[in-house]
Amino acid sequence: AGCAAIVTAAGSGNRLGAGIPKALVEVGGQPMLAYAVASMALAGIPTIIVTAPANELAAFEVVVADEQLQAAAARAWPELGIPPSIEVRIAAGGASRQASVAAGLEVLAEMERPEVILVHDAARPLTPPEMIARLADAVSEEQGAVIPGLAVADTLKRVDDDGFVTGIIERAHLRAIQTPQAFSTDLLARAHAYGAARASDEALAATDDAGLVEAMGEAVRVIDGDAAASKITTAADLAALELRLAALG
Ligand code: CTP
Ligand code: MG
Repeated sequence: AGCAAIVTAAGSGNRLGAGIPKALVEVGGQPMLAYAVASMALAGIPTIIVTAPANELAAFEVVVADEQLQAAAARAWPELGIPPSIEVRIAAGGASRQASVAAGLEVLAEMERPEVILVHDAARPLTPPEMIARLADAVSEEQGAVIPGLAVADTLKRVDDDGFVTGIIERAHLRAIQTPQAFSTDLLARAHAYGAARASDEALAATDDAGLVEAMGEAVRVIDGDAAASKITTAADLAALELRLAALG
């Protein structure tokens, strides 16, 4: 019974270019990973597997200690109080994000089986706990895959290789997809087995976890995400996040 989360943090953060793993980069005085794990704790998720670069496991252990999670929670969500103590395990990730999620699933397979698994990126540190709880609650036997999405505000056009417009894209049915993505444990395990069996298929390897479910022909439901769950990819993203935290006081 219950819910668990895999927080992927095994990437190197090349585009951010900080010289250390992106998840360890500090914003508002706390590492991004501490916020991401604290947000899960505040959402009531009791078990977290964090995937880390294989040569950084000790540094990641320090970041998910109770005191560090409490400090991050106090910085980002002071109104929500102290996060409950949770079980956090650090696991070595893989060469791709998909391989890192698979490594997290292997660790979970040896633990008490949760009903729902959330797959989240440490690169979305300020994801509101309320949004996380909403996703976990939306998973049911009938609806095994639920992911957050935002309506797209910009006008979208298709262009050819020379930059000439070849068509406009109707926006009403488009969503920009975020994490965490929430799954029934059975469906996520089947989707990853499906993906692993087709590892040479590049189109499939490039997708997110929900993409593997879609590739199996099963339904994925999109519910409202939150602008606060934006992803940190570049130095400009990090600077914007720093400003947002500064505005909190
Ligand atoms: N990730 C992972 N294992 C990998 C690659 C990525 O767990 N082998 C995680 C990252 O740590 C991140 C999430 O997947 O939390 C989304 O990836 P991305 O934003 O691309 O992060 P990085 O791969 O670290 O950044 P970059 O691509 O710029 O190197
Ligand atoms: Mg990457």
